[in-house]
Amino acid sequence: MLNFDFYNPTHILFGKGRIADIHQAIPADAKVLLLYGGGSIKQNGVFDQVIAALGNRSITEFAGIEPNPSYETLMKAVDVIKQGNIDFLLAVGGGSVIDGTKFIAAAALFEGGDPWAIMEKHGRNVTKALPFGSILTLPATGSEMNDGGVVTRQSIKAKLAFSSRHCFPKFSVLDPTTTYTLPVRQIGNGAVDAFVHVMEQYLTYPVNSPVQDRFAEGLLKTLIEEGPKALANPEDYDVRANLMWCATMALNGLISTGVPQDWATHMIGHELTALHGIDHAQTLAIVLPSMLRVRKEGKRAKLLQFAERVWDIREGSEDSRVDSAISRMQDYFEQMGVKTRLSDYKLGADDISPIIAALESHRMLTIGEKRDVTLDVSRQVLELSL
Ligand code: NZQ
Ligand code: ZN
Repeated sequence: MLNFDFYNPTHILFGKGRIADIHQAIPADAKVLLLYGGGSIKQNGVFDQVIAALGNRSITEFAGIEPNPSYETLMKAVDVIKQGNIDFLLAVGGGSVIDGTKFIAAAALFEGGDPWAIMEKHGRNVTKALPFGSILTLPATGSEMNDGGVVTRQSIKAKLAFSSRHCFPKFSVLDPTTTYTLPVRQIGNGAVDAFVHVMEQYLTYPVNSPVQDRFAEGLLKTLIEEGPKALANPEDYDVRANLMWCATMALNGLISTGVPQDWATHMIGHELTALHGIDHAQTLAIVLPSMLRVRKEGKRAKLLQFAERVWDIREGSEDSRVDSAISRMQDYFEQMGVKTRLSDYKLGADDISPIIAALESHRMLTIGEKRDVTLDVSRQVLELSL
């Protein structure tokens, strides 16, 4: 096992009716900025619960944080904070609202010039941030219990990730009933994103880490079992609860302790979203199956373990077990309603070179757990995904 630090200070309030408990988690005299997206929280009653729970606190609203939050929109919230002496942020929504709020929290106190520098330095230059909490309505990203965020600068079509220990939510409310209104597309996206998060931390090479491996396999098996049930019975509380906790546990730092991490699929996926507006999870479903096929040799030991322990594939040659496991995973993405080929999103061979150029301009020249995913390998992966 590799050396590691594990630090996660986020207080989780899990379960039905827990939005009311933010009353205790936010200072009574806080001047709160309530941040949300395109309005789903007004249609499903979450907004009303939040307002009731905030009681007499001073509340300013900032609406309109879009999926794949943009720097341009987020900087408007920074202005609102400065004008209103806001001292606490409350993000209500999916990963985009929570990520956007993390950037805003850091940007509002940033002293190094234009806050886009936070993204360029991937958060290494963040020394403080406003305190914030979150109310999660879409299980997928794990943003509710980690210190990372992804922000897009639309004017230059750049989607970059940052993280900082100052950007953990103080608390996050996970009420599974808030997810009943998710459209089918977002249920599928959420399960696939969480699945791929586990794979980025698990499917590398063995370092004798059975605790992390068994946790990861448990999360994958739960997503495989529960995901289709959420599509079939949208208001099954236990299914939603299991999916919600699974997605949080998939990216809260626990399963990455002491193990190598890949993230090449995410890096290529971010370019696909930035250039073509494809949903985050859809990009992962396109890239990961081909990524594993192209890098089969370097990942062979873990692929065989994945085949046996996650898919129960024990018969046949090594190659056939590996191939079947990858196909079963791809079928699962499709079963969750997430298409897995570039052509499903109307992209073709001509679209590959601009993606490679974007990776190059973002210095993604050698990625993956062994830094052996060169631009040529990324090109092979995309060609195999056509
Ligand atoms: O904007 P509203 O109206 O709220 O609608 C949203 C949005 O249109 C809707 N939605 C959310 N909860 C709902 C709901 N609709 C009905 N009922 C509900 N309960 O869903 C749509 C998508 O929301 P979004 O927040 O964009 O989705 P997601 O949670 O998948 O977040 C995606 C973003 O997170 C980043 C991605 O890159 C992308 O920008 N990621 C963040 C990570 C992190 N912080 O650790 C890791 C991930 O790998 C990922 O990169
Ligand atoms: Zn992701």
